[in-house]
Amino acid sequence: MWTKKNIGDLTGKTGIVTGANTGIGYETALALYEAGADVVLACRSEQNAQDAEARMRAQGGKGQLEIAVLNLANFGAIREFAQTFIQKHDKLDILINNAGVMIPPGSKTDDGFELQIGVNFLGHYALTGYLYPLLNATQGARVVTVSSMAYLHGKIDFDNLRSEHSYDAFREYAQSKLANILFSVELQRRIEAAGDQVMSVAAQPGANKTDLSRFMTDEEYGAAVERIGDLMDPWQGALPSLYAAVAEDVKGGDFYSPNEPGGYRGYPEKLPIEPHGLDVAVARRLWEWASEVTGISFR
Ligand SMILES: NC(=O)c1ccc[n+]([C@@H]2O[C@H](COP(=O)([O-])OP(=O)(O)OC[C@H]3O[C@@H](n4cnc5c(N)ncnc54)[C@H](OP(=O)(O)O)[C@@H]3O)[C@@H](O)[C@H]2O)c1
Repeated sequence: MWTKKNIGDLTGKTGIVTGANTGIGYETALALYEAGADVVLACRSEQNAQDAEARMRAQGGKGQLEIAVLNLANFGAIREFAQTFIQKHDKLDILINNAGVMIPPGSKTDDGFELQIGVNFLGHYALTGYLYPLLNATQGARVVTVSSMAYLHGKIDFDNLRSEHSYDAFREYAQSKLANILFSVELQRRIEAAGDQVMSVAAQPGANKTDLSRFMTDEEYGAAVERIGDLMDPWQGALPSLYAAVAEDVKGGDFYSPNEPGGYRGYPEKLPIEPHGLDVAVARRLWEWASEVTGISFR
């Protein structure tokens, strides 16, 4: 059973965790900080970032903490975050693309994309793209992209990525989480084709008690718990991301999940990706679309 006690000493490593103010992101950032890494808490709200930093400092860690505002629903804000990071830091060992939004009422990013594909996938595509030169210049750097078992139900609808047609909250969430898997695997393919040393790995946290359910009704939440069973505390849901970020046997293109059947609970284990998550043609088309709409080409 792998827990955060297995992380080892991360002194001298620098990491970014998106959505680090709460839930899985908070626990991921805290564990990296406890293990000695210098961690940037990349959060949408400065106040929430400050509160999270204060709570982490109170718990104590061996590394350094820094906060930075990052709104993944705005390409300009992502560029600004990345430029500031690159000015201040000369390396980036661990990028955890964790932030996410689930089943909001139909809404769009500042750049006009359906919010879930926009924040969960496109925002992280842009962030990774801006930071890639620094990742590539850092020996042993890893990009961990957080998906969900909802990816199993996902399908990329290239004609509806700006909500041009109907909106179905869960369908769009599942699409965005499939996009996270396709992105993670396609990034690894491109890394290998370029002969780079960066590693791209996907993770999913299982079913956890976090604010992710904020847009669910009580009935929807109750039905989900009845179907899934007990939810985990987010420290446990953070373990697959942490394993992907630091464990020695991890390979680029891997996917880590809690190990109980269904992927809802347990401790990190490598899980095979279903064929639609490995579809090269869809992954390429999605990457090319993201490159075109963000204006960022990398690898
Ligand atoms: N919890 C689960 O059971 C579960 C299951 C499968 C997958 N996941 C995945 O795990 C990841 C973390 O989720 P969680 O459960 O920890 O959810 P959470 O508690 O709701 O945390 C989500 C984080 O993402 C941030 N965020 C949302 N929109 C953003 C934006 N536009 N720009 C920057 N940050 C933004 C939130 O910031 P604010 O606090 O400011 O809103 C928050 O920090 C997500 O990718 C989610 O899809 C979670």
